[in-house]
Amino acid sequence: MKYRFNFGRYSPEDEAFYGTLLTLGNGYLGIRGEIELEPSLYGTTIAGVYDYAPYFYREIVNAPRVIGIQIFLNGEPVGIGTGGLRKYERELDIEDGILRTDVEVELQQGGVLGYESLRMVHGRRKSLVVLRFKVKPGRSGTLTVISPIKTDTMNPLYREEVMAKHYRVRKYSILEDAVYAEAETIDGRYRIGIASSLVTGLEHERFAFKNTDGVAEVLTLDVEAGKEYEFVKYAVVESVPAEDLEERALRNLREAKTAGFEALYREHRDYWKELWEVAGVRIEGDEEAEKGLLFSLFHLMQCMPIDSRISLTARGIHGFGYRGHVFWDTEIYALPFFMAVFPEKAREMLIYRYNNLDAARENARANGYNGAQFPWESADDGREATPSAIPVDIRGEKIMRIYTGEEEHHITADIAYAVELYHKFTGDSEFMSRYGLEIIFETARFWASRVKYEEGKGYVIKRVIGPDEYHEHVNNSFFTNLMARYNLLLAARYFELSRENEEWGHIAAKLGITGEEVEKWKEIAESIYIPRQENGVWEEFEGYFELLDYTVDPYGLGEERLPPEIRENIGKTRLVKQADVVALQYLLKEQFNMEDIRKNFDYYLPRTTHASSLSMPAYAITASWLGYMDIAYDYFMKCAYIDLHNLYGNTRDGFHLATAGGVWQILFRGFCGVDIKDDTLEIRPNLPPEWKEVELRFRFRGNLVDLKIGKGRVVVRVIEGERFKIRTSNGVAEVKSGETVVLEV
Ligand code: BGC
Repeated sequence: MKYRFNFGRYSPEDEAFYGTLLTLGNGYLGIRGEIELEPSLYGTTIAGVYDYAPYFYREIVNAPRVIGIQIFLNGEPVGIGTGGLRKYERELDIEDGILRTDVEVELQQGGVLGYESLRMVHGRRKSLVVLRFKVKPGRSGTLTVISPIKTDTMNPLYREEVMAKHYRVRKYSILEDAVYAEAETIDGRYRIGIASSLVTGLEHERFAFKNTDGVAEVLTLDVEAGKEYEFVKYAVVESVPAEDLEERALRNLREAKTAGFEALYREHRDYWKELWEVAGVRIEGDEEAEKGLLFSLFHLMQCMPIDSRISLTARGIHGFGYRGHVFWDTEIYALPFFMAVFPEKAREMLIYRYNNLDAARENARANGYNGAQFPWESADDGREATPSAIPVDIRGEKIMRIYTGEEEHHITADIAYAVELYHKFTGDSEFMSRYGLEIIFETARFWASRVKYEEGKGYVIKRVIGPDEYHEHVNNSFFTNLMARYNLLLAARYFELSRENEEWGHIAAKLGITGEEVEKWKEIAESIYIPRQENGVWEEFEGYFELLDYTVDPYGLGEERLPPEIRENIGKTRLVKQADVVALQYLLKEQFNMEDIRKNFDYYLPRTTHASSLSMPAYAITASWLGYMDIAYDYFMKCAYIDLHNLYGNTRDGFHLATAGGVWQILFRGFCGVDIKDDTLEIRPNLPPEWKEVELRFRFRGNLVDLKIGKGRVVVRVIEGERFKIRTSNGVAEVKSGETVVLEV
């Protein structure tokens, strides 16, 4: 794999878009891709560091900027915007996880200044950022390089003009070999300690200063025209509420400096090599598809959480879209990739939910329910973080009400679903004893209290929002009711299993679950109300079929294309924002036959606007099962290029991580047709016609598996592990460690 993404155009308006595309991160730190030579609104994002924010409850903090550099030649400031640009090249190398910049700026004093840099957010040393740059002045004289830690960064609130600063500076230190800034979030929950040092092997003078915007080092040296001068900026960002923050930041900084750029770069490359060894995918016959897929996986991997304090967020460490909140995007769209490729990361993501189980219990209680109700959006403390209203105009006179926090309840079942999927795929029963079972039982309890009995109908769930958010306050959403039923039956099944498993039995006993309670769960599940079916099509929610019918071109995207009268009254039409019934049929495939899935797909596809980026993956996977390869492939490519092509126009707010996970699912669950049935791995591939062969790796129940799918055959090799069973259309085979099995399909 050798993929580099090159961008050669600079315009201040596009910087925020490239800022997301060129973000570097390591699960803990995120540094957006805006060029270091220009000032920027964006600082550093630190996974798990949030602060109180009006309207949004908590939001990820735009922490001080560490990546900036200012250059002066003979007193003349040199920036991208200051002179003409002779050259502007930026290159993201996803194999090594680095960003290269190569520019030439015309000087007002005559000649040009060349600047070349290499940036990394270190893979192994999580708090470390390194920037090596070379300056080639076109004029002799004095070169001054300023390397600041900027403490003027702020978060845009409900509009860009309204900013919130989420930290106050506690101190600046100027040391002989570094500068240091320490900040504390306004609510006092987190401290951020940043140490930075600019190094050069050349003769120079150094001084440092602090002002209201931060603290900086300044290096001055005599330079000759045409020669190259090399510098390395090291910055360390620590962030726990610990006392020894400064000591730790400085220690890590000095260790990095002692290791030096080359050694750090080697470590960083090795880190990425190891990740790609498992995550890499080869698609023979379609380089474009491979490239887009790997780009998505690169950004997904840059966000994989380093511990369970926070999970994957909707837009990653790439930006402030959705405030750094965690949604169902994580469990349903992104987690399957981690579960199969880096299972320990999927485990951390689910433990994050477990850690917030008490908050979910309180949430249920506050809303009048039992058990645990997960919030629609959550941040670092697991409490409901969905805004209930946001001002639309600057004066806050017009308010947009948001009901998802109050009504989008399916997330609670989605999390239980992900727990089960993780368990089925990894066989991690220790996880179930410590965390998983409690989530499954407590979420079932929520549903048991959420339903109401209605004569003639059975158990109903009123006033919800399903995945299709165009329709609010609906009754008996197909998606919600079926997921609730699934959750209740899952819990009942685990209760039965707990009778034979002492550790599991202990959890049920701890929670005080009785046989009677479980009987009730089953009774509810059996008579939960399921919306009607007309000509094989499930009604998305009660009353949906009575709405105004309107259809769109399935190859289009979003709401822009709708006439205003439809757009403004969208909730009164049958238009659907995103896969809803179709998403449910994907998730609970075993409950439907292919004819049923086809009828619903055919009906809902032209009624879906795909205004949410979560929509296409479910459609594409289902399409590939149905043999609708044109649409499956079209959606795969759109998802793989969603941010590279800025398809939703909002890439600047962060990377679409659910879609990135969705691209991988289209490949794995759709085109490769991988599924688990009765402890057996099932492979029923259906590759796009131009694909000659796909090769990918994943972990299944402790086995590291290499899977190659070509025309008419599947080749499976167990690289590490013991053995497992595999089923194709030609029967069942057993694969043992070290063995390669070739199966006809
Ligand atoms: C979608 C939700 C999604 C959220 C965050 C919304 O537009 O409708 O399904 O969870 O964005 O990505």
